[in-house]
Amino acid sequence: MKKLYLRTFGCQMNVADSELMAQVLAGEYVLTQQAEEADLYLINTCAIRRKAEEKVLSLLGSLKGLKKRRPQLILGVGGCVAQQEGERLLAVAPHLDLVFGTHGIYRLPQMVRAAAAGRRVVEVDLKPGLPPWPQRQWPPKPVKALVTIMKGCDNFCSFCVVPHVRGREESRPPSVITAEIADFLAAGGKEVTLLGQNVNSYGRGLPEPITFPDLLRRVSAMEGLARLRFATSHPRDLSADLISTFLDLPPLCEHLHLPVQSGSNRILKAMNRGYTREQYLEKVARLRQSCPGIHISTDLIVGFPSETEADFAHTLDLMAKAAFDQAFSFKYSPRPQTRAATLPDQLPEVVKAERLARLQARQDELTIKAHGRLVGQTQEVLVEGLSKRAPEQLCGRLRTNRVVNFPGPRHLVGRLAQVHLTEAHPHSLKGRWVEDPPTP
Ligand code: SAH
Ligand code: SF4
Ligand code: F3S
Repeated sequence: MKKLYLRTFGCQMNVADSELMAQVLAGEYVLTQQAEEADLYLINTCAIRRKAEEKVLSLLGSLKGLKKRRPQLILGVGGCVAQQEGERLLAVAPHLDLVFGTHGIYRLPQMVRAAAAGRRVVEVDLKPGLPPWPQRQWPPKPVKALVTIMKGCDNFCSFCVVPHVRGREESRPPSVITAEIADFLAAGGKEVTLLGQNVNSYGRGLPEPITFPDLLRRVSAMEGLARLRFATSHPRDLSADLISTFLDLPPLCEHLHLPVQSGSNRILKAMNRGYTREQYLEKVARLRQSCPGIHISTDLIVGFPSETEADFAHTLDLMAKAAFDQAFSFKYSPRPQTRAATLPDQLPEVVKAERLARLQARQDELTIKAHGRLVGQTQEVLVEGLSKRAPEQLCGRLRTNRVVNFPGPRHLVGRLAQVHLTEAHPHSLKGRWVEDPPTP
């Protein structure tokens, strides 16, 4: 068998897509961890910010040597940068053989064969209508699964490239989704994350009437499922029905990622987000009321065009009021084809960097406080593997998605364990395994 090396950048959707790439190529290629022995080297790319794109271009440049040493190597770029740049990538990288877009994964075997025959292949059509979407096959003894429930995005937030590189929103039929999950559970899997750019609009356009909370109810009822998560939920479409599912569905974990982006109404409007800070805070309050202990995380952008110090102060204020347990924050980065990139009053890099540093310092305080409240509690951890930094320790997650490291035997991997939480750090917690009581 020939060898495939796969490098993945970007979000969970890209991780799921990469798994699918390996799957559709499995008849001819086995995965390798060693780039040097690859016959096929694929880069699955992210275009969300310029830095993400630059990483891809610099990796691509650095592969010239490998291609020289292994002239038979087929080098391909897929994902969001491929979709955005198409043919232009062939011009910047003369050693590149293959460019494939976000809708072309199922055609990879044919494209790779054409590239092996000496052609330079570019396929970046964004066709409406779901292409044949192969059902996922799971590896032996899986623990967690990323299950894509919809593609694309129709929201056109003014800063965001995703609708341009992922195409129009489309939902997968529920029967296909549950069949994929049933296979995963039959193989012993424990946790499922349902993926879409905007899961709250799941079901639009399907022949059978179904909402996202309906889908959650169906999946939650499946035999053997320990944990259910989803990402990402748009605040505008977060319904009362969805809020109530957190209490009603036992596998659904007490964690919601609810990207707010800004705390200033003027900026939210310019971002085309479709909600105000008041509406957002009201939804957070309702969530905390109906599901005490829920962990709410968010995404924030600083330095959107024309953002003033007063707008930024509104963001800091909203963070404190929402008391986020975790926040992912970014400097605004102008993206091709987006409306915000054409706005006047783009802010200097130093202003963005300085605001980002202030915001992150504030969030670190909030996160440490939230973690501190957990110390002394005993909670359920799904053990995912050995800790990367300290291999004598196990690493897993709480239902609220916090990372926990603790010493324990390897046979716990893939199992639920009770862990007494002893120490809080900004990005993780430490704990002690509470051993199962001996069976009489
Ligand atoms: N579909 C998801 C977001 C996907 S992108 C959602 O709507 O929540 C992930 C995050 O990247 C966004 O929430 C936003 O905070 C950030 N992001 C997107 N475009 C950006 C840009 N041009 N500059 C900086 N950050 C950006
Ligand atoms: Fe981008 Fe907005 Fe769509 Fe999220 S909802 S992917 S931020 S356009
Ligand atoms: Fe990046 Fe594409 Fe995901 S732009 S964030 S990999 S949808």
